[in-house]
Amino acid sequence: MESSSPQVSVLDAGGQYCHLIARKVRELGVYAEVRASETPAAELADRKALIISGGPASVYEEASPKVDPAVFSCGPAVLGICYGFQLMVFNLGGEVERGERGEYGMATLAVMDPGELLVSGEQQVWMSHRDTVSAIPAGFRLMARTDTCAFAAVGDAARRLYGVQFHPEVVHTRHGAGILKNFLFEVAGCTKDWDPKNRVPLIEQQIRETVGNRKVFFFVSGGVDSTVAYTLCLRSLGPDRVRGVYVDSGLMREGETDFVRDVFQSMGASGFSVESQEPIFLAALQGVCDPEQKRHIIGEKFVEVQERILAGLHGEDWILGQGTIYPDTIESGGSAKADVIKTHHNRVAGIQRLIAGGRIVEPLTSFYKDEVREIGAELGLPAELLGRHPFPGPGLAIRCICSTAEGYVENTPDGWLIPIHTVGVQGDSRTYNPMIAIEGRPIPGSGLHHQATVLINRLTGINRVVASIASICPLETLRVFAASLTPDRLARLRRADAIVRRMAEESGFDREVWQFPVVLIPVGQGKRRDAVVLRPIHSVDGMTAQSVPMTEALLSRISGELMKVHGVSAVFYDLTNKPPATIEWE
Ligand code: XMP
Repeated sequence: MESSSPQVSVLDAGGQYCHLIARKVRELGVYAEVRASETPAAELADRKALIISGGPASVYEEASPKVDPAVFSCGPAVLGICYGFQLMVFNLGGEVERGERGEYGMATLAVMDPGELLVSGEQQVWMSHRDTVSAIPAGFRLMARTDTCAFAAVGDAARRLYGVQFHPEVVHTRHGAGILKNFLFEVAGCTKDWDPKNRVPLIEQQIRETVGNRKVFFFVSGGVDSTVAYTLCLRSLGPDRVRGVYVDSGLMREGETDFVRDVFQSMGASGFSVESQEPIFLAALQGVCDPEQKRHIIGEKFVEVQERILAGLHGEDWILGQGTIYPDTIESGGSAKADVIKTHHNRVAGIQRLIAGGRIVEPLTSFYKDEVREIGAELGLPAELLGRHPFPGPGLAIRCICSTAEGYVENTPDGWLIPIHTVGVQGDSRTYNPMIAIEGRPIPGSGLHHQATVLINRLTGINRVVASIASICPLETLRVFAASLTPDRLARLRRADAIVRRMAEESGFDREVWQFPVVLIPVGQGKRRDAVVLRPIHSVDGMTAQSVPMTEALLSRISGELMKVHGVSAVFYDLTNKPPATIEWE
């Protein structure tokens, strides 16, 4: 897909967002490649623009990503983003100050001097950083700041060097696309050379090249990604060379198997079958609490089933097809330097072996969810399927939180500290911390989400802030029970999830959100030993997310029904954005 000398190179300084930057540039009609940050300037001198990505490091760490200092004078215009900005300042004689706590989430940008890069006026931007720039190099001028960040955007028009502390590539930065557009066309003089409509014929050609004379075997999940990948293979290779199996792991949502069977029947996929493997998965997960271990076990079980099936395909040369999309690869460290936030089930050891052996075809690895949906629509897949919310491969297992320890809820001046550990991502590093519950209703205009953002930026060692919606008793009398993945708890979560899904669909709320995980946590009292957490979020690609408010009427209806579920003690509402929290709790 890559032309030999692209106009734009994105230098990967270790952020999860570097491929997102490349994609945003392509959306603006200019092809961009991703290169290692250390790429010698001599190899980049013929580019029109270089963008240095964000990353988790501090310029003061010895092993932190570097750039060849000559990139700032070898010809192309340069934009440094977040850590890339700090790297630029540091290299050119400015100062970077170490920060302990950092700033994560929304901020208001005050633009003093938009120049050729920024869009005038006060605007929302997305921050995710620890260190800050405290003095800019000679020749640079200050263009914008925020309350907490004295140098939020700077530039040197003569040398065509610009730096922004916020992330223009994420949707939460109001004029992010406009800023990138200004940089590419106004500052760097790029011309349009990329049309997204090229992508389907290109993907099909890549599939034929990868597969050669072999045949492709898919594990389909009924999700958008695997269905689109399957359909692309079906189109480029023909139905005789593509087979699909749906493995019922027992970790799926209510009614899922029937839905998937119906979809594939209506697509006329001849080589499609369902394999029921629930007892095998549940036995392997018995007593397992650790999220990473759950993912590994589920991934390995899928691989075992797959290896058994592949072994049964005698005399034929089959390879595995997967619907892995871009975020699945980066959050597992697919960008050269991004920390492993968690291992995706599509990247466990067994799959790595197949990748190493060249026995995998993954047509969607450079695309994001919204692009995959667009491709699906171009392929004529039904809107009912394409509109489905993403659902994680390991299924309800990673929404059924377990605990080895017992513990008590503690009433603190900031709220109720609940010793349940959940995953977060701060400045691109993975964290695993307890959560805090506060009072209030997360209804539109309540200000509760803002309160949660302020709280989480102030507190260290906390990943999530939830609102307490309903409880059988005062929160300080709730406790955390030792609990694992039992059929009983999975059934409880499946029920709760089905209730929430039905009500969200009936009210139309499901169309207002990008995803709506329902999570079970072992927090309760007496015989009611679990609580349900609602996690409705808005996102564009899963890389960043905002918790979404809900009307009081819907909130009361949902929590009322959930409190009737056997064993449920309380209902909470996750108010945290990503970052610092991830969308899923594990
Ligand atoms: P996080 O929790 O990382 O989620 O903010 C981002 C998106 O990825 C989905 N997700 C997964 N999908 N296997 C998957 O197939 C996984 O292990 C997994 N973990 C998270 C999540 O639902 C969200 O859409």
